[in-house]
Amino acid sequence: MSRDVWNGAGRRIHLQEVGMRDGLQNEAAFVPTGEKIALVDALTQAGFGRIEVTAFVSPAAVPALRDAEIVMREIARREGTLYGALVPNVRGAERAIDARADELNLVMSASETHNLCNLRMTRQQSVAALSEVIAFARPGGTGINVSLSCSFGCPMEGDVAAGEVLDLAACFIDQGVQGITLCDTTGMAHPRQVAPLVAAFRQRWPGTLLTLHFHNTRGMGLANVLAAIDAGADHFDTAFGGLGGCPYAPGASGNVCTEEVVHALELMGYDTGIELAGVLAAAARLPALIGHETPSQIVKAGRRLDLHPPPPGFEALRERVAARSR
Ligand code: COA
Ligand code: ZN
Repeated sequence: MSRDVWNGAGRRIHLQEVGMRDGLQNEAAFVPTGEKIALVDALTQAGFGRIEVTAFVSPAAVPALRDAEIVMREIARREGTLYGALVPNVRGAERAIDARADELNLVMSASETHNLCNLRMTRQQSVAALSEVIAFARPGGTGINVSLSCSFGCPMEGDVAAGEVLDLAACFIDQGVQGITLCDTTGMAHPRQVAPLVAAFRQRWPGTLLTLHFHNTRGMGLANVLAAIDAGADHFDTAFGGLGGCPYAPGASGNVCTEEVVHALELMGYDTGIELAGVLAAAARLPALIGHETPSQIVKAGRRLDLHPPPPGFEALRERVAARSR
């Protein structure tokens, strides 16, 4: 790693908040629609340039997001923030465009086995299906991003060759999509793997938006973010509270946690444009809504300089210790 990565020197790093989609899709509790809208509005206020608001998938497959239309329609939009949604097929694209989504996030897996489990299609069938969605949505001007799950490994197959990931990316970039997200769906990525894949992508497609989507399943999330930054990436998906996880991936757990990433990057001199206090306040509302604690370390421990008063009796302790040396 070059020394530069430790000194952000004001460099802008863009975070897309994905907790409302990647996070809530994985929760057993149904967060009431009004609460979802209030959370998105709070995230907007915290300054995100991009928010993945929901998913227009089959309500039977992901009941937690069955209110996608209402949420997408009723959030308070801020100019300069892009409100996206995950979409699996043309039906989802129609629904999302109707509800005024700014960007469609299409998804397929770089791994054949995971694609079959998650989407019930071969990769080839998925490419054909997503190409149909692109042909449907592009003429209307809605932005399109393609997320490639398991780009850094599949929990059932193991390593996925970088060449296969780049070939899939090529297939969509050739169709004119604006962005590609390389997803580490089950936290298998590690820094030495992340750096060359990001560098290869950046070199081949300097004009395509590249987003990295890491899960912290094995504690390597922040290390992977730094490795990706060092290799030229500047867009990341993160989830407040550290929520997240694919319901169809064994052992999956939370995305890299927004407040942890903002906290760390700002200390290193990067500029995320995110107001940390606003994210923390939103994350603090989650346990009551989802019925359990979140993995967020910053919610638990506070920011680095959120200081604590010394324990009761501290003054007396100080006196006693001082008396000993008199
Ligand atoms: N929105 C709403 N309903 C949809 C839909 C969409 N985008 N796509 C399909 N459906 C409905 C169909 O109408 C059908 O409903 P019915 O049973 O009442 O007739 C049902 O879902 C099944 O549709 P089908 O086309 O046979 O698809 P499938 O059963 O093979 O399911 C997916 C494929 C991808 C649509 C479905 O599995 C899905 O939405 N999965 C979500 C996966 C996901 O979000 N994973 C986490 C993110 S990585
Ligand atoms: Zn994810």
